[in-house]
Amino acid sequence: MQGQAVSKEPDNTEETRREDYRNAMAKLGAAVHIVTTSGAAGRAGFAATAVCSVSDNPPTLLVCLNKTSSAYWPVKGNGTICVNVLSSDHQDLSRLFGGKTPVEERFAGASWTELPSGGLALDGALASFDCEITSVADGHSHDILICRVLETQVSDGGQSLIYLNRGYHAV
Ligand SMILES: Cc1cc2nc3c(=O)[nH]c(=O)nc-3n(C[C@H](O)[C@H](O)[C@H](O)COP(=O)(O)O)c2cc1C
Repeated sequence: MQGQAVSKEPDNTEETRREDYRNAMAKLGAAVHIVTTSGAAGRAGFAATAVCSVSDNPPTLLVCLNKTSSAYWPVKGNGTICVNVLSSDHQDLSRLFGGKTPVEERFAGASWTELPSGGLALDGALASFDCEITSVADGHSHDILICRVLETQVSDGGQSLIYLNRGYHAV
């Protein structure tokens, strides 16, 4: 009708709220990691931005792992992970570990060093954290893995790989 304000139904369905959340989270830049596990429960690895320091005493970090991930049961069964911080040279590797590529093809994309815990450190990572999972909290679609850091390795340099606005950036 002419001359009358059209009132719009507030659209606050669950899906719209999730999309708004995802769009807003795209503004939050985050370092990219490859999280690996290896042992009796199998070898697996995935790209992850949901990694955060918890404490330096004792050295503790957290990783959020999707419960539907192919890495879920290997990670839970082995109880150990290695968190590798990617450099700007690792964009292709991040795509490999962040997609649906079979696990052996993912690992064939780089060289790895086996750690005493069974974890796999990425050669050329900016840093690697060899971790033991000490507790797990429920995060709805994800498990929040609280990890005790057993050993750290740091490389000399290189730019960081940051995921922001749904794309990769070198910092
Ligand atoms: C940049 C980027 C960041 C990601 N961050 C996480 C994360 O923090 N936690 C997670 O569980 N999956 C994350 N993923 C998704 C996994 O890497 C992806 O689910 C997995 O590699 C592919 O699934 P599949 O292993 O089940 O085949 C991320 C993917 C990309 C590309």
